[in-house]
Amino acid sequence: MATSSTLAVPQTSGVPRHIAIIMDGNGRWATRRHLPRTAGHIKGVQAVRRTVEACGRLGVRYLTLFAFSSENWRRPADEVSLLMRLFVKSLEREVVKLEKQGVRLRVVGDLSPFEPRLQELIHQAEARTEHNDQLNLSIAANYGGRWDVLQAMRGMLRANPGLAEHPEHIDEDALSAHLSMPWAPEPDLFIRTGGEQRVSNFLIWQLAYTELYFTDTYWPDFDRACLEEAVAWYGGRERRFGRTSAQVLAAR
Ligand code: IPE
Ligand code: IPE
Ligand code: MG
Repeated sequence: MATSSTLAVPQTSGVPRHIAIIMDGNGRWATRRHLPRTAGHIKGVQAVRRTVEACGRLGVRYLTLFAFSSENWRRPADEVSLLMRLFVKSLEREVVKLEKQGVRLRVVGDLSPFEPRLQELIHQAEARTEHNDQLNLSIAANYGGRWDVLQAMRGMLRANPGLAEHPEHIDEDALSAHLSMPWAPEPDLFIRTGGEQRVSNFLIWQLAYTELYFTDTYWPDFDRACLEEAVAWYGGRERRFGRTSAQVLAAR
């Protein structure tokens, strides 16, 4: 299991091991061009492809992309259904390429409301890439940070019912082992495109000590240079994890 930034000071380097991205601004990208919002989502798929490739080149090991939040069901039905179709299409089209690129794909979130066909494609894509380990790509779909904490709580109690009698035995490790990405270290770098500076119920537990980077660039315009800019910014951060600057320097 990955180490916790609150239980021990993690080893870090100038290149983030794990990048988590809120891919925001598709709708505004399209509206600006007098196109339907859905055109922005379609264009956004290309940015996903570019980002996966750029992360591979930079040696990033984990990339987590927020594709559909647990609150995005509130959108108009036709937009939701386009997003679902796009998800199906992208899985069908991209999986062979991902397999060749050494990418292991996982989809995290509550998949139960998805159509059986989409669930089946997700399982196939995960199985087909499970031998890969160059880049661990996680797509967060019908994901919510609060859902994640709650489902972890339920999973933990199901696995160890005795804990309900002894809540004092519940610690971070016990809970985090049941979060939806136990294989991944906590994100080092969070990127949100589209100009908003909020977390929108993304990885609320896992972002405890993540460096937060916001850019006005709309997701469909996000490219390799944008990613490199974010990574360069990350390289300039002093990650203190609660310590003083002098302690950080002494520990180098
Ligand atoms: C992000 O872009 C994609 C999804 C949430 C699926 P938006 O669709 O939120 O684009 P804006 O924020 O309305 O511009
Ligand atoms: C967050 O974007 C979710 C995804 C990018 C999938 P939203 O566009 O849904 O976030 P809010 O509503 O502006 O906070
Ligand atoms: Mg948005």
